[in-house]
Amino acid sequence: MIQPYEVRDNQLTIGGIKVSELVSEFGSPLYVYNADVIIDRYQTLVNSLSYPHKRIHYAMKANSNLRILELLLKQGAFIDAVSLDEVRLALHAGFTPERILFTGINLKTEELHWLVSQNIRVNIGSLHLLQKYAFLFPGGEVSIRINPDFGGGHHSHVITGGRESKFGIFYSQEEKYNQIPLAQKIIEKANLKLVGIHAHIGSGILEEKKFIELISLILSIAKQFSDLEFVDFGGGFGIPYRPNEKPFQFDLFSDHLTKTMKKFTSEYGKEIVIAFEPGRFIVGEAGILLTTVTEIKQTPNYTFVGVDSGFNHLIRPMAYGSYHPILNAFRVQGKQNEVVIAGYLCESGDLFTRNEHGPEIRAITTPLEGDVLAILNAGAYGYAMSSNYNMRPRPAEILITEGKARIIRRRETFEDMLRFFV
Ligand code: LLP
Repeated sequence: MIQPYEVRDNQLTIGGIKVSELVSEFGSPLYVYNADVIIDRYQTLVNSLSYPHKRIHYAMKANSNLRILELLLKQGAFIDAVSLDEVRLALHAGFTPERILFTGINLKTEELHWLVSQNIRVNIGSLHLLQKYAFLFPGGEVSIRINPDFGGGHHSHVITGGRESKFGIFYSQEEKYNQIPLAQKIIEKANLKLVGIHAHIGSGILEEKKFIELISLILSIAKQFSDLEFVDFGGGFGIPYRPNEKPFQFDLFSDHLTKTMKKFTSEYGKEIVIAFEPGRFIVGEAGILLTTVTEIKQTPNYTFVGVDSGFNHLIRPMAYGSYHPILNAFRVQGKQNEVVIAGYLCESGDLFTRNEHGPEIRAITTPLEGDVLAILNAGAYGYAMSSNYNMRPRPAEILITEGKARIIRRRETFEDMLRFFV
């Protein structure tokens, strides 16, 4: 797998361009994405799955930049969308309705009508919505999201399976909690055609065995329905953030998947499509947030290195205590200092090096005022979760393709923020 950056003369370069050049041309802070890495991750996934009937639905919530959507469409991707405007943006990018699976929750009736009118397949995650769908569109096609009574993920906030989670029609081996027979009844009564079964158990999963467990379970449920066209095992493939974390082993998992699918299709009597919905795996490692050191201060406990960005641009450390590798782009190697990298927002939690409890010390090549720090693995859930907190505009986004950098979203301005007041 290709890496998003290289080091030349002790300087960080992204897609062959020096960070110093990127910042002097486009300003700081800055989100930079390496298109080659996005393509590489997409293709890695496609090629590692040996089962022939497969679809990769890019989970656009991870990064919904229009140009990134276009790039993935060119590669042959499908889309996982969770809001009407995600659907509109995907259509705008050129995805046809058949390429989009909608898995949003808490839908209003008029939203459901709009999706159906646009020929978008709605993946239904509650008996309540299934009942509504059955009443409004008897005889229609439908897909259901199942909560398989277990989940996974890098933090409790992102586990979407199991009893603490609000997602899905609940499957359980305990009969009193198992909603599948009820779903089946609704489907039969309204003459619905169940064309898809879906589950997404969480995000940032690095254990292959979680997926193996999920696949067996979903297929055992799938057997109970005869009209299926696809099974969708969701997204959630993790990427290594901390130095001791290992990448997800697709080979191991793919062999198992192919064998399992062969057995399933011969019993089922027809070949069906398998789908996955990765977000983080495709764009996470491709994105780097560049931010400039503005102030350094000493307190009894820490050396705080202040930068021109904060959790308004990358909330993951604040929201989940997430670790992002950070390099001094101007001197990648050299004498290191143990510091805490602090954002510019007026909140103590606004630190780029922290865990769930508070500051976490990081060794970085001595940061000086004016140095640019590169916060790695920021392509997923970075810009996508950004805000204007403290009246701070969002950074520009840059895409590097074949050694050329182009701006794919301009930097916000004060005037942009002013526009919303009425
Ligand atoms: N499919 C569904 C239905 C989802 O809800 C999600 C993510 C995905 C696919 C893609 O998951 P991925 O492959 O990216 O792990 N903000 C959090 C992650 C939240 C994930 C939400 N759902 C973070 O920064 O870690």
